[in-house]
Amino acid sequence: MQIRFADVRPTGDFALVLPVAGKNRIALDSLGSDRGPVDAALKRLRFEGDAASTAEVYVPAEGGGVRRLLVVGTGDGTAPVDAAEKLGGALTGRLLTSGEKHAVLDLTGLGYDADSAARVGLAAALRSWRYDRYRTRLKDKQKPTLEQVTIVGAPAEAASLWETRWQPVYEGVALTRELVTEPANIIYPETFVDRVRASASGSGLEIEVLDGEAMTKLGMGALLGVAQGSVRDPRLLILRWSGGKSGEAPVAFVGKGVTFDTGGISIKPAAGMEAMKWDMGGAGAVVGAMLALAKRKAKANIVAVCGLVENMPDGNAQRPGDVVTSLSGQTIEVINTDAEGRLVLADAITYVQRNHKPTLIVDLATLTGAILISLGHEYGGLFSNNDDLANQLLGAGQASGDKLWRQPMADSFDKLIDSPIADMKNVGPREGGSITAAQFIARFVDDGVRWAHLDIAGMAWSDKPSSTYDKGATGYGVRLIDRFVEASVESR
Ligand code: BES
Ligand code: MN
Ligand code: ZN
Repeated sequence: MQIRFADVRPTGDFALVLPVAGKNRIALDSLGSDRGPVDAALKRLRFEGDAASTAEVYVPAEGGGVRRLLVVGTGDGTAPVDAAEKLGGALTGRLLTSGEKHAVLDLTGLGYDADSAARVGLAAALRSWRYDRYRTRLKDKQKPTLEQVTIVGAPAEAASLWETRWQPVYEGVALTRELVTEPANIIYPETFVDRVRASASGSGLEIEVLDGEAMTKLGMGALLGVAQGSVRDPRLLILRWSGGKSGEAPVAFVGKGVTFDTGGISIKPAAGMEAMKWDMGGAGAVVGAMLALAKRKAKANIVAVCGLVENMPDGNAQRPGDVVTSLSGQTIEVINTDAEGRLVLADAITYVQRNHKPTLIVDLATLTGAILISLGHEYGGLFSNNDDLANQLLGAGQASGDKLWRQPMADSFDKLIDSPIADMKNVGPREGGSITAAQFIARFVDDGVRWAHLDIAGMAWSDKPSSTYDKGATGYGVRLIDRFVEASVESR
């Protein structure tokens, strides 16, 4: 779907979209003689302009036809950017499969600044994303029709802000959603890399890939133990964006990319196991964010590392009780083969510290079911060894809409993963399961490195639509990273 900005409404056939901010109905003034009937209709529809509420009425169009008029509420008290995104999302949500090809949104008189106007466009684009590749029998009425949204009445800079700042973010989110949506027979470590390569071509991202053999030579026993039961060879995907000062140490993002998590020998129950196709949501978010940062030419040096493996039961799979040696040299007793994400992250984190000397590391992972018990689907879990970093991430979460809530860490939790036979075991007790998982990862972070772990198990996928996504893959994490880099890395 195309987002365009224009000075005046076009001629011809389109659906007209007018925002109403609670009691502020100024946008309706442009209706002229149709104003009266529209007001009456809105009253009958009990439309009060609440944020993201919509009402559809029809007005006469020039030449005798009718024009669909969609009135979208943006609420009274909602923050401008919040209202902007609800507006764009509601517009697309209502019109995407409506039969309308072109929607014209008129912001005249509403006082939107350029960024808010551009973010109306972002939300409209984000809400239009869907993946119909495998739906071969869709009826015409079920197919998207909306091809273009034209935004009128925005400040002049909105168009370039959309193109240079927000369209890249849309493209990053779209990549993440695609990777997360694809099933595990299509996206596995090798094809994950292929998809990223194809999307990143021409973006300026440098790509490096290690296969199983290369990782064996390095001694990445924690990651390889997880991959051992699968016929799919693992990959370590390294992306670099060098938009900052040359020679300046990079910031690192690390993603859990388990392309399918059966649990391994500690196999998961059958019910709902299909959800584990999105156990690569951390890696998906990291590559989507890298694409966005490259496309908007972020002024920062960034390195991203994704550990890509499939966790399968097999005659050759690792067993509960096996002891593996991680790249760091620390040994791990694998009590539960279903606690595989932390094993993958451990080696990816060691790898990035050794090879890229980052000043700070943020890892993203669909790591624990326990984080869904604590935070549901409203917040990602944030764990960190540094209060400033934690606060910056919390701020980026607020500003981007990818919200985070901080969770505790402490030595008393760390003790819970001591092992009688190895340096540590890969699970603690059931209680505080997300925290002991974070403590495990912390054991692989070098002294002096600022680090945060984001447990996004509740956020990568949604069973219900929101203003910026339909049900399915959310793309959570891309906007968070994008905002964090803008506010806390590029500016320093
Ligand atoms: N990928 C899962 C976490 C997960 C569970 C994500 C449910 C989304 C929904 C992870 O690898 C896992 O299996 N974690 C175990 C850890 C346990 C064995 C300590 C869990 O949370 O049950
Ligand atoms: Mn698991
Ligand atoms: Zn997993």
